[in-house]
Amino acid sequence: MSSYVADPVYLNGRYLPLAEAGISPLDRGFLFGDGVYEVIPVYSRQAFRLDEHLQRLAATLANVRLTDPLSPAAWREVVARLIAAAPWEDQSIYLQVTRGADAKRDHPFPPSTVPPTVFAYAAPLVTTPAEIRAVGVAAITLPDLRWARCDLKVVSLLANVLARQQAADAGCGEALLIRDGRLAEGTASNIFLVKDGVLLAPPKTRLMLPGITYDVLLELAAAHGQPVVVRDIAEAELRAADEIWMTSSTREVLAITQLDGQPVGNGRPGPLGEQMWQWYQDFKNTVMRKG
Ligand code: PDD
Repeated sequence: MSSYVADPVYLNGRYLPLAEAGISPLDRGFLFGDGVYEVIPVYSRQAFRLDEHLQRLAATLANVRLTDPLSPAAWREVVARLIAAAPWEDQSIYLQVTRGADAKRDHPFPPSTVPPTVFAYAAPLVTTPAEIRAVGVAAITLPDLRWARCDLKVVSLLANVLARQQAADAGCGEALLIRDGRLAEGTASNIFLVKDGVLLAPPKTRLMLPGITYDVLLELAAAHGQPVVVRDIAEAELRAADEIWMTSSTREVLAITQLDGQPVGNGRPGPLGEQMWQWYQDFKNTVMRKG
């Protein structure tokens, strides 16, 4: 077993060691990036918001015209078996479906006799250490060069990868993607702003991934009476924000304290972000770690 991926992994109906899990080089995921994925956090061996993650997977599959290879019950069974076999209490479950491997490379879909490739594994959940959360992370802004269906969680992530590497080259933890003068999201996170005590979030459109964590944050804000406005956010508003946070299943709620080399607000994680992180932990602990 590697320290990042638990054995066994799941591949096409079988549970086997990662070292024995092989796929064809003609797999369309490899040749075309023709596939979809999910990342599901697991706390105390319980998958967080599993129904929502499986629904998003089903929606992405339908939108790219891939038949869902497993029923919801069968997906749940795969997730449960991977969690049970992995050595960690907190995990991250990765699911991937590609359009399979035909005998040749050809852009149109293969014949319906070609089965999809279904791969899943459990990894340890690595959340942000407290010392990094205490100072926040730096980010850059970049033009959003992705396609026009960023609401679909597809494995063709080259534009995200290139933007994220540009951020890494600049010593930053995330790149905020701007399209037509508006904030879309990060390369692997959704973005929230705080201005004058109001939480601002971009709306769910085809230009951003509908984050499961994003939904949890909006629910927590509503439950705690925190004013929220969901609307388009202009690039200039980013630079005038009191706080900026990124959210995702693996990064939870993480303050961005520097943007393009300038401090965000006073350059330190803000009070509302701290509060939201705490609400998120409390919520997790209430729903996942009871007993
Ligand atoms: N990424 N936006 C993008 C482009 C993402 O890739 C992700 C998650 C999110 C946040 O979604 P959620 O809250 O459902 O995790 C937003 C995962 C973690 C990844 O690609 O590893």
